[in-house]
Amino acid sequence: MQSIPFIPESASTISGEVDALYFYISGVTVFFVLLISFVVVYFVIRYRRRNPFEIPRPIEGSTKLETLWSIIPLLIAMTIFFWGAKVYFAQYRPAKNAMDVYVVGKQWMWKFQHATGQREINELHVPVGRRVKLIMTTEDVIHDVFVPAFRIKADVVPGKYTTQWFEATKPGRYHFFCAEYCGMNHSGMGGYVVVMEPAEYENWLSGNAGQASPGAVGRGLYESLGCASCHGVNAEGGRGPALIGLYGSKVTLNGGQTVTADESYIRESVLNPQAKVVTGFGPIMPSFQGQINEEQLLQVVAYMKSLSTATPAVTTASPNKPPAAQPSASPKPSGPPR
Ligand code: CUA
Repeated sequence: MQSIPFIPESASTISGEVDALYFYISGVTVFFVLLISFVVVYFVIRYRRRNPFEIPRPIEGSTKLETLWSIIPLLIAMTIFFWGAKVYFAQYRPAKNAMDVYVVGKQWMWKFQHATGQREINELHVPVGRRVKLIMTTEDVIHDVFVPAFRIKADVVPGKYTTQWFEATKPGRYHFFCAEYCGMNHSGMGGYVVVMEPAEYENWLSGNAGQASPGAVGRGLYESLGCASCHGVNAEGGRGPALIGLYGSKVTLNGGQTVTADESYIRESVLNPQAKVVTGFGPIMPSFQGQINEEQLLQVVAYMKSLSTATPAVTTASPNKPPAAQPSASPKPSGPPR
């Protein structure tokens, strides 16, 4: 692909298919542009007026022709639709068994945190051949994570989580950009995804160890914010619902409907607890809006995940060795990191 100058390098499991679809659409377009241009020119010459008093033969119309030139383009358009939908769903359905990376955008930088605690700014280290799920939000305006070499791009929106995933196929440094105009330094808001061989990545992880995992910090926040007084010291439940095993489970609400307890549900329940009250519980929880920033919220979410039995615990990001940093004692909750 590098032989074509305007196509970025292809370095993820999805990029080949995105390119194939793109070339197909371009090919169809070029074919019809040439065909129609040729036919227009040909008919102009073939059926030109040959003398000033010529009266053309009346045209009756042809149902057969009309049907044909409606059906054929429909079929061609449908191939684009179905292929496009297939690629879209492959890309936007959350990946299973992925390594979580928490992403917070702010004017004008990207902050990443690995499930094992390592933090990075404007640079993201990941292993090759492993699915990486980005759980993303922003502290201020809308930004957008765009990694051309992986053919992935998604908005990062204030007040909610969006996710996207990729699996890098070859080691290297891949430029990423903010793809949503977000103010003065928008054009400089980017950096590199560094894709490493798994062993090299393990080295990098241990070289940057010593930072508490987001789950452990989240546990500290859980205690310091007083969550434990209702949800139990070990999240076993009390006046509030139990949180053990919550993440990924189906929750029945007061109204009778059920929701899946994903990242967004947990986030909403912290900031706006009255929105979705679990059946059997009263609307007694106060809102934590303004007491917790986006990074801390993600840490609380990571703690909830670590309590879950449905998905791998947060420490499985480094399967070949014990996690580098996993303080069991309650660490001091970090202040609003800047
Ligand atoms: Cu952030 Cu543009």
